[in-house]
Amino acid sequence: MCGELNSAHIGQEVVLNGWIQRRRNLGGLIFCDLRDKTGLVQIVFNQDVPEELFEKADSLRSEFVVGVHGTVKERQSKNKDLSTGDIEVFVDDLVIYSQAETPPIYIKDDDDVSENLRMKYRYLDLRKPRMQGNLQFRHKVTKLTRDFFDSCGFTEIETPMLIKPTPEGARDYLVPSRVNRGRFYALPQSPQMFKQLLMVSGADRYFQIVKCFRDEDLRADRQPEFTQIDIEMSFVDVDDVIEVQEKYLQQLFSQLMGIEISLPLPRITYQKAMERYGSDKPDTRFGFELRSFNEKVKDSPFPVFANAIAEGGDVRAININGHSSDFSRKDLDRLQDEIKKTFGAKGLAWIRVGEDEITSSFNKFYDQEGLRRLANAVDGKPGDLILIVAGEPGVVFDSLGYLRREIADRLGLLDDKIFNLLWVVDFPLLEYDEELKRFKAMHHPFTSPKEEDIPLLDKDPAKVKAKAYDIVLNGVELGGGSIRIHDRDLQSKMFNVLGLTKEEAEEKFGFLLEAFKYGTPPHGGIAYGLDRLVMLLCGEKSIREVIAFPKNQAAVCMLSEAPGEATKEQLDELGISLVKE
Ligand code: AMO
Repeated sequence: MCGELNSAHIGQEVVLNGWIQRRRNLGGLIFCDLRDKTGLVQIVFNQDVPEELFEKADSLRSEFVVGVHGTVKERQSKNKDLSTGDIEVFVDDLVIYSQAETPPIYIKDDDDVSENLRMKYRYLDLRKPRMQGNLQFRHKVTKLTRDFFDSCGFTEIETPMLIKPTPEGARDYLVPSRVNRGRFYALPQSPQMFKQLLMVSGADRYFQIVKCFRDEDLRADRQPEFTQIDIEMSFVDVDDVIEVQEKYLQQLFSQLMGIEISLPLPRITYQKAMERYGSDKPDTRFGFELRSFNEKVKDSPFPVFANAIAEGGDVRAININGHSSDFSRKDLDRLQDEIKKTFGAKGLAWIRVGEDEITSSFNKFYDQEGLRRLANAVDGKPGDLILIVAGEPGVVFDSLGYLRREIADRLGLLDDKIFNLLWVVDFPLLEYDEELKRFKAMHHPFTSPKEEDIPLLDKDPAKVKAKAYDIVLNGVELGGGSIRIHDRDLQSKMFNVLGLTKEEAEEKFGFLLEAFKYGTPPHGGIAYGLDRLVMLLCGEKSIREVIAFPKNQAAVCMLSEAPGEATKEQLDELGISLVKE
């Protein structure tokens, strides 16, 4: 392959196939860079070759596809930036397999064109070395994953793609059935129930690298179809699952990144994660931890603080140590607008600690001594900027959690050479949904409560902790899982707490409840987002960079223009008529 040649091949005859990156005619010499998925090599046509060949070489243009035969020679002026820069190939035969029009995008890594144009011509975009590298790296991750879990006694088993719709979590993608008119399949949001059935079947240790489908609003780390590394194990508790996963992650980082991670990985409870980082997926590469101001401001002269506490809310702060001068008044106004719009925060209060004076956005309510006391609560020193949010606890956590990471990003503190893995554990089992006026499962309805909390399911469901764990890498939720409920009665009770009637539970999950009648091992598992994992390891900012043919933000494939229209015949056969707008 082009990128594999080096000085060890000097004197050897080679056959290379690839794309012309560029051609230069220096009169008596024609140089071309020939590219394939492994990289570039310089090929040379000199005047020793027959005139016909020289003319053919002169007709080459960017992206022509060619095959050449030639001899590897040492290069006079070496190119240190190229892995093949010590050699070049003197060509004595050339075949032009196909010509190419000028491509609509440049085939180079740092070309700054719109993402939609890149996606429309994805097959050209994928010719870029970075994209080829990402695809090859992704392959290495899946290969290592398969090898690792195989060596630990896991069996890869496929689960169905056409399943029963179970409205839970995100929206389903529906597929109409022709044979059973008026009925629909759903594409799986995850193989959750099937992997649990596999445990009932005695499969013991299952894994699958599997496509999942979720019709949800898209972001940089979400796609409507994405891939999970899905795992389930029998006869395990939390520590058993975590132990296998840590060995997997250790091997992955060691073999593919050359990074030795020490085990066990840190674990933090959900509550601590929220209190310290304002997030259940904390990025621990930098400081700016949250601190509570509740005690300090319960009798505050500033009504915003005092009222928040009186209403059962929170006042919390982060200290952006030493960076006061990096944020103008306008910057702070902008950050305030962002948290108002995104999280419904009421405002962003700030304190600047100067050498002689402390200033704040609520100056008229506090004298210097009062501000000093607040600043001291977060170890405020000259040059520090302290940001404070008051209000409903969820809003305060979300706003400050967002601000600490956003600010670290703006300050260039998100080092993509550091990989901080940690487990978040002891999640609440349930969260209250204000709109639905009922509890929802925080993970999914099959997650087991901690044994000691089971009595609370009736008394105080919000207090029940789950045997659930998330693995977080640099502020991104890489994966999540839990120990499952394997007791039929407890599972029925859980459905009940979630507001499902017996009939509804039977209709949606009856087949799982029935299976549990016939001998169910205790079991649990986890699923990683493969796209997110590869994205982080490749240092990319979007999962679209590590998926060959992704959808854009509007869930459209720009290349094939999916989703498309169905013909009248197709719709008639399915018994579907469209409602015209
Ligand atoms: P969960 O819903 O947390 O768990 O999904 C597991 C992981 O899948 C990834 N992920 C996504 N990646 C890209 N685009 C999306 N739209 C998307 N949604 C999720 C995330 C996430 O951590 N059945 C359970 C797992 C279990 O309990 O074993 C499940 O699916 O990285």
